[in-house]
Order: sequence, then structure tokens, then C-alpha cells
Amino acid sequence: MNWSMGPSSSDFSLHSNANRGKLLVEDQSIVILDFGAQYSQLIARRIRELKVFTAVLPCTASLEEIKSYHPVGIILSGGPSSVYDPDAPPADERVLSQGVPVLGICYGLQFIVHKLGGKVRPAPKREYGHAEVNVAGKSRLFHGLPPTLSVWMSHGDEALELPLGFREVARTSNALAAIEDEARGIWAVQFHPEVHHTKHGTGLLRNFAFDICGARGDWTPQHFIDDTIRQVKRTVGDKGMAICGLSGGVDSAVAAVLVHRAMGERLTCVFVNNGVLRKNEFQKVQASLRDKLGLNVVAVDAGERFLKKLAGVTDPEQKRKIIGNEFIYVFDEEAHRIEQKIGKVEWLVQGTLYPDVIESRSVRGPSQTIKTHHNVGGLPDKMKLKLIEPLKDLFKDEARRIGREMEMPEEIIQRQPFPGPGLAVRILGEVTPERIAMLQEADDIVVNEVRRAGLYTQIWQSFAVLLPVMSVGVMGDQRTYAYTCAVRAVHSEDGMTADWTPLPYDVLKMISSRIVNEVRGINRVVYDITSKPPGTIEWE
Ligand code: XMP
Repeated sequence: MNWSMGPSSSDFSLHSNANRGKLLVEDQSIVILDFGAQYSQLIARRIRELKVFTAVLPCTASLEEIKSYHPVGIILSGGPSSVYDPDAPPADERVLSQGVPVLGICYGLQFIVHKLGGKVRPAPKREYGHAEVNVAGKSRLFHGLPPTLSVWMSHGDEALELPLGFREVARTSNALAAIEDEARGIWAVQFHPEVHHTKHGTGLLRNFAFDICGARGDWTPQHFIDDTIRQVKRTVGDKGMAICGLSGGVDSAVAAVLVHRAMGERLTCVFVNNGVLRKNEFQKVQASLRDKLGLNVVAVDAGERFLKKLAGVTDPEQKRKIIGNEFIYVFDEEAHRIEQKIGKVEWLVQGTLYPDVIESRSVRGPSQTIKTHHNVGGLPDKMKLKLIEPLKDLFKDEARRIGREMEMPEEIIQRQPFPGPGLAVRILGEVTPERIAMLQEADDIVVNEVRRAGLYTQIWQSFAVLLPVMSVGVMGDQRTYAYTCAVRAVHSEDGMTADWTPLPYDVLKMISSRIVNEVRGINRVVYDITSKPPGTIEWE
């Protein structure tokens, strides 16, 4: 596997422009120039899976910076713009003539055509979704792949005239799908080889990385660990303290262990009880992080503060913001306390993963922000701390592999994701202590039964949701009128898309019967059979 060091949106990051290149120790890479596609990192991920070091740089990166990565290949990503938009993202077109093989994807193709003298126009028929592509003749990019490919298209523009030297290699029934100029070392596809819906997409990227670019494919998680430790050491120097907010989840724990290896006792971890954790979580997490990982953990029981602020609030975004803000206050206070004891705190370590960043960032403005993820919120600004986010270009399973490589306990590595705002986004309507207690019990039953069935590690997430819907039931001879609990279990690769999981009937039966019998206040259990999209994983 291979890992990328990408650009950062924060005021500071280990991957900031100033530090990039200078810190890089790899002697070869494939550089991805990001034109603002929501899924540029997916390209990086696919290349990392081929064990090739990848760097994702903004499309505006200078040629000098690109070269400092010793690229054996350059990929131009997709993007939401048209090459004719006045604010179309620019890139240094000299990347097309460095003698380094180039692969354009979607907008990348149009950029190449436009810059090299061809013509791009709005397509008469826009193509979104599945399409069949027919490959004509021989092409190194398509070597060994079937002549007809099922691909994922998403574009509004198309190439009308190709630049001199280019030839068409593949097309759909309506449009051009791939072009190349072997002599110039440029290949481009209109579809998205990086998404799962494109069958053989990985094969195409493999052809590019190995056959065309001659990459070695020897990059490993240990490289990532060594690199990150080295970068953290260089960045923080030998003075100044760091703090890390632990959630008990794998992301923050892996980030903390990585930074702990670089900074040792200069790192203090803070674990806040926000009142909406799972049953017994506050105690369990402290024990595993302190005892098993040897981290220096300060536990803050601030549940009441959070619940006071949440009283009477029903709007999902409002709940997220309240919890995010309160977390900042609590954390800030704790940081000052730590500072008084051990010295100036300058750094904040966060376990932010790539999907957290991408879902909070919107290429086209705030209307497309789906949910506010509080772990990329205002903490560093408020506290004037500099951010260390060693996992911000990785997906969850990649962070898990890093944790495993560092021999972290499986109970932490395997833990299913749990959102920062906790049970608050799984209690629809007002969050009250009674409802929290009810959901904690129901949730505990779901998790335990899924574990007992041996399914816990095979499922991305399995949990209970408390609905403010009351219905009539009968227990013994008594009429009941109580709440409804929804059970949700999903498969996902990265949390960005998900399919609902068909849990076995006997597991569902046991979950339902135990919840109704053991949790006072719930008399009905329903099963959520919605995928993402169009649903989201959490209900709020
Ligand atoms: P959604 O509900 O957006 O969730 O489909 C995608 C993944 O993200 C988790 N999630 C969060 N994680 N802070 C987090 O750390 C948050 O605010 C947050 N909201 C959602 C969710 O559990 C799922 O794995």
C-alpha cells in the first residue's frame, strides 16, 4: 500500500506548501493534480492500493513543486468546471511536456484537449452514470482489458476536435471516451476509472502506473509511519507541547499513537465525555487508551454541560453545532489547565480522515455541504493552535492498516466508526437524559448481538436510532404506548457511500425481542433499509 501527502485547507498542516517537497523522502511518485473533483483522493487511494507513492497537489502547484516529488507519472483529475468557465481551475501546462507520462481524467481530458489546441464544447447529450465504452485498436492504457467496458461517466462537456497527434481510442454510443498521443506520452479518459462502478478501472490505472510510468510498487504502510514520524519531529522541533482530542475511535487513536511516537511525553490526550457516548464508553475508552496504548490521557467528564446546552433543541444541524462548540470550550479550558502544568501548548493533533474533509468542504458553496462534521470545525482558530492531521488524506481502512502495523490492539482497530456528536444525532427530536439512557441500552443490545453473530467486524456500522414516534403495543395484558427504535446496519468502504446490510433474520429477531423486553420506553423495532445515497448513514 502507498499513502499520499495531500494539500491542506487548514492554517497549518504537515502537508502545507511550505513543508511539502522539503520533507519528502520518496524517490518516485505519481502526482495527482487536483482540479477540485470531489473524489480526487479516490484516485490517490487506487494508486496507493497498487503500492505506489502518491502526492495529491492542488492544480495550481508550481512546476518546481511538482518536480520535487520526482514524479514518474502525472494524473490530471476531474473537476466540476468547464474549461471555458472564467474561473476554470488553472494548471501549469508545462506539465504536459516534461517527458513524464500524463493521464487526464474527465476535466483532465478536456484540459489537455483545450491546452494543446483542440476544441471542447458543451455535450449535446450530457452523460451521468453507467455507460458502455468500446475500445478500438491497441492501446497500452487498455492492454489486457476487455474491448467493451462498463464505466462511470459524469460530464457535461466533450472534446470536439483533438489536438494534433492525438487519436481516439475508445467511445460510448454518444461520445468520445479515451484519447492518446503515445509520442507525447499523454493518455486521457472521459470516464472515471477510480470509482467502483467502473469495472476494470483499477486495471487501467495499473497499466498507467506500471506499464506506462514504470512505477516500482514497493511503497508500504511502514513507509507512511516512518515518514509521518519524521515529518512530525521536524515540524514540531524540540520544544512545545501537543494535545490530542481522543474519541475512543480508531482515527484519533491512530493519530495519537503516531504523534506519540514522534513527541513522546510532550503529547497529552484529552478525552471528553460529551454526555452522548455509548453505554460505559467513558470508562472503557480511558482504560484501553491509557493501559493498552500507554498514552497520557486526561479524561474530562463534561456530560452535564453538553446536555444543558442541548435542552429543547431538535434541529439536527443545531445539535451538531452546539456539541461542536461546547467541545471547543471544554477542550480549550483543559488545554489551559494542561499548559499551566506542563508548558506552552502549540499543537493540536486530530484524527481527521479524508472523507471528513471532503464532506465538510464544498466545491460549489455551502449549499452542497451535507452535514457539519465537528472534528474539522473551529477548534484550531479559537485556540490558536497549529494542526497536525497525519491521517487527513487516508480512508478509514487505510488508517486501520496503519494502526495494525503499529501493533495497536484489535479492539481499537476494529471499532466501528462513531460520530463526534454521538448519540445526539441518533436521537431524533430533543436529546434528554432519559432518551440517552434508552438509546444507550438499545444500542448496546444491537452491538452485542451483532458481535455475538460474529458480524461486528464485517459491518461498517451497526447501531440503534431512537425515533420520537410513539405507537401502541401490548405487553402481558397491558397496553403500552411507547417509542420506536430503528436498527441500522450498513456496509461501506469509506463512509462516503453505503449499502444497508441484510442482517440474518435470527439476529434481527433477537435484537428486536431483547430491545422490546429489556428497554423500558421502547415497544417497537423497525429496520432501516436505505442506502447512501440517497440516505445518509446517520439519521441526522
Ligand atoms: P453520514 O451520516 O454523513 O456519515 O452518511 C458518514 C460517516 O461519518 C460518520 N459521521 C461523523 N463522524 N463526526 C465524525 O467524526 C461527525 O460529526 C460525523 N457525522 C457522521 C458516520 O458515523 C459515518 O461513519
